[in-house]
Amino acid sequence: MLRVGIVGCGAIGSAICHALDTQIEGAQLVAIHEHHIELVESLITTLRCKPKVMKIRQMVQKVDLIVEAASPNVVAPTALLALENGCSVMIMSVGALVDNQLLHKLVTLAKEHNCKIYIPSGAVTGIDGIKSASIAGIKSVTLITTKPPQALTGAPYVVDNNIDLNGFKEPAVIFEGTASEAVKAFPANVNVALSISLAGIGTKKTRVNIVVDPNSDKNRHKIEVIGDFGKFTSCVENIPSPDNPHTSYLAALSAIATLKKIASPLQIGT
Ligand SMILES: NC(=O)c1ccc[n+]([C@@H]2O[C@H](COP(=O)([O-])OP(=O)(O)OC[C@H]3O[C@@H](n4cnc5c(N)ncnc54)[C@H](O)[C@@H]3O)[C@@H](O)[C@H]2O)c1
Repeated sequence: MLRVGIVGCGAIGSAICHALDTQIEGAQLVAIHEHHIELVESLITTLRCKPKVMKIRQMVQKVDLIVEAASPNVVAPTALLALENGCSVMIMSVGALVDNQLLHKLVTLAKEHNCKIYIPSGAVTGIDGIKSASIAGIKSVTLITTKPPQALTGAPYVVDNNIDLNGFKEPAVIFEGTASEAVKAFPANVNVALSISLAGIGTKKTRVNIVVDPNSDKNRHKIEVIGDFGKFTSCVENIPSPDNPHTSYLAALSAIATLKKIASPLQIGT
């Protein structure tokens, strides 16, 4: 039985807790770490299994896998401690891995301690295709992310450039750049830019356009890939999570699907 601990029980973490409680054979929710104590208390009342609330330092001694679903600044301390203690990690705040030194350190530790680092596909479709395509040559990967104004509020790029998100009447491109620039400019919005880059041609070569669409309430991601295999386009129109408009519901589902894959003897998909 895979013993799982969750760090961060917001929109994604709480959905994972409920899935572990009811529908993931071979995995068990053992521990939770969340700094909103009222949130965690009310979550536990809704769960049949009764995970223990504990610090990450204790959690690494009790579980086989820690799922980070908190925020980018939680990734380094959590993942380093987990891997040093022989505990695998699943990272949802993937944008934190734009730091190449951190990524390299985590991979080295995972090798040394025979652990894994799991990065679910998150809010996009098409990562399977990018991984397959990267076995040969990939010429270009472009991500076009379209979001309603409320999903982009507070992003450093929006704040620094005094962009009035409520001033748009039509869809407009507000950002064009590399994936590494996009993750720094919109850390809570384009985790997917990092996942796509890691699966394909890296953060410096992957291109990202961000579009604000005042007439939509969905988060859309379109990925265009050209390579030796041919070309493909993958589009997803995501419903925002009811608990967090920055987060697409599919991101929580992808974490649950990854847990199921880890716990299952049957492995489907690339
Ligand atoms: N990979 C993807 O495609 C993808 C998609 C959406 C969101 N995300 C990322 O996943 C993370 C979680 O998303 P969410 O929508 O569940 O966010 P959320 O804000 O709904 O929940 C995060 C929770 O983590 C808790 N938290 C934050 N810092 C903590 C700390 N230091 N210790 C303990 N608890 C802490 C918060 O109290 C909150 O309850 C975010 O970083 C988000 O950017 C990734």
